[in-house]
Amino acid sequence: MAESTIPDTMKAIVVKETGGLEAMTLDPSYPVPKVGDNQVLIKNEFAGLNFIDTYYRSGLYKQACPFISGQEGGGTVVALGSKTEDFGLQVGDKVVYVALVGSYCEYSAVPASKVVKVPESIGMEKALACMVQGLTAHYLVTDAHAGLIQKDQWCLIFSVGSGTCQWAAQIAKVRGFKVIGTTSKSKADAVPKGACDELIVLDTAEGKSHSDYTSVDIQKKVMEITNGDGVKCIVDGVGQSTSDISIQCLARRGIWISFGNASGPVPPVAIKRFTPKSAFCTRPKLGDYMATREELEYRANDVFGLVSNGKLDVKVDTVFSVEQARDAHEYLESGKSKGKVLLRI
Ligand SMILES: NC(=O)c1ccc[n+]([C@@H]2O[C@H](COP(=O)([O-])OP(=O)(O)OC[C@H]3O[C@@H](n4cnc5c(N)ncnc54)[C@H](OP(=O)(O)O)[C@@H]3O)[C@@H](O)[C@H]2O)c1
Repeated sequence: MAESTIPDTMKAIVVKETGGLEAMTLDPSYPVPKVGDNQVLIKNEFAGLNFIDTYYRSGLYKQACPFISGQEGGGTVVALGSKTEDFGLQVGDKVVYVALVGSYCEYSAVPASKVVKVPESIGMEKALACMVQGLTAHYLVTDAHAGLIQKDQWCLIFSVGSGTCQWAAQIAKVRGFKVIGTTSKSKADAVPKGACDELIVLDTAEGKSHSDYTSVDIQKKVMEITNGDGVKCIVDGVGQSTSDISIQCLARRGIWISFGNASGPVPPVAIKRFTPKSAFCTRPKLGDYMATREELEYRANDVFGLVSNGKLDVKVDTVFSVEQARDAHEYLESGKSKGKVLLRI
């Protein structure tokens, strides 16, 4: 696309004031961003939906209003800033990105350092699914445990039929860990084959689409499986409903990686609760595990490679249109999704 054909305005899902689903409105004539020196302008084909988008929309996480929702997208490069030559990008390249720039819109100006090319073998939809959820799963089971789990030791991963943790369980197996997964009955069919050595299937909460964490004594099961030792690493994106269970399942010098709040924020935890097992806790975020261009390239290439060679089974659950952004948020927040949710722009 020649720069002269880039329009002045575009459709965008804009949050003017934080709140419920109604906080998102479709603006048909939002200004197309100007491309900065270090940026590329991308004509988005898809935006990836993430729980964090609902937190910014609701105001749980803070962002100055008005803003365009979304921080993950994929499309075609249509213009290059004057200082982007180091990144090997050309107009016409198919790319995906994670950046706090707004992606539920037709055009996004994205720092070139945050953009990666879509491998032909994978295609746009799968490559986009690899970004937030795939990269997160990658850092969680590769680095966030700080080496406190070794090959052939047990880890516990909640919600292995869901977005991030379908990936985390599969990558944990690639790393040589033994995996205990949990899933609600409603998502047991979405747990990737071979991702877990032991699967704990929980009842689905009444009238809901997620687990009832009281339906099975998870601590008892974990202790049975691990001969009373507990697990060396816990990957927990559920938050409120699982924080106590996590602390109780830790092995001596094990680590609880509390990376999300799908069931609500984790309540404050007294540090003395880690004393009985001299255990560790971390509350990491993706930005700190792709802080440099080198790290982003390393993780993205590793994840793309695992997808290409069939070691990672990636599921795109549902594609909504951008006009259905409210429905898409409602769907994500209901806990129904069994993989990546996308918006077609
Ligand atoms: N720190 C980071 O770097 C980072 C990166 C990405 C995501 N996150 C966070 O991690 C969390 C999970 O993200 P995700 O993309 O994996 O989400 P997801 O695909 O929607 O999975 C969330 C799962 O949590 C379980 N769950 C339990 N209680 C729930 C409730 N009340 N409502 C909804 N789900 C409930 C469900 O699994 P079951 O049916 O098995 O119970 C659900 O499928 C979110 O809080 C997200 O913001 C953090």
